[in-house]
Amino acid sequence: MGDFRDLPGAPPAGAALAEAARLDATGVLALEIDSGDGLFPVLLLKGAAGPAAFVNLCPHRDLPLTYRSSAVLSADGTLVRCSNHDAGFRIADGSGVDGLAQGCALDVIPLTVDADGIIRVDAPGRTSD
Ligand code: FES
Repeated sequence: MGDFRDLPGAPPAGAALAEAARLDATGVLALEIDSGDGLFPVLLLKGAAGPAAFVNLCPHRDLPLTYRSSAVLSADGTLVRCSNHDAGFRIADGSGVDGLAQGCALDVIPLTVDADGIIRVDAPGRTSD
């Protein structure tokens, strides 16, 4: 697992990702965020403990987790299942826990939801509200 801010085009703290209501409707949103340095792949999820976001790249083959399907959220809301080869990552921290994910991890994007219901990138080191 790396720091998503080290990747080209990473959205800065405060960048808007999506309306939280959109996530409520689908549970999964694969987005490409343009922060002025190219499109950046973001996967937003409605996990069991609330919204979570990761760079939408699987460390197994650097393919989008949603490449074959957007149905990547486990039924209990605790795992991301890569649509390519079914690797399982824990939503709580991005760590790989099943199949080809073992020994690697997703890049976590910290989130906050503002007073207008917009999911935003949180500042480093802050705990989400
Ligand atoms: S690309 Fe994700 S498990 Fe292979």
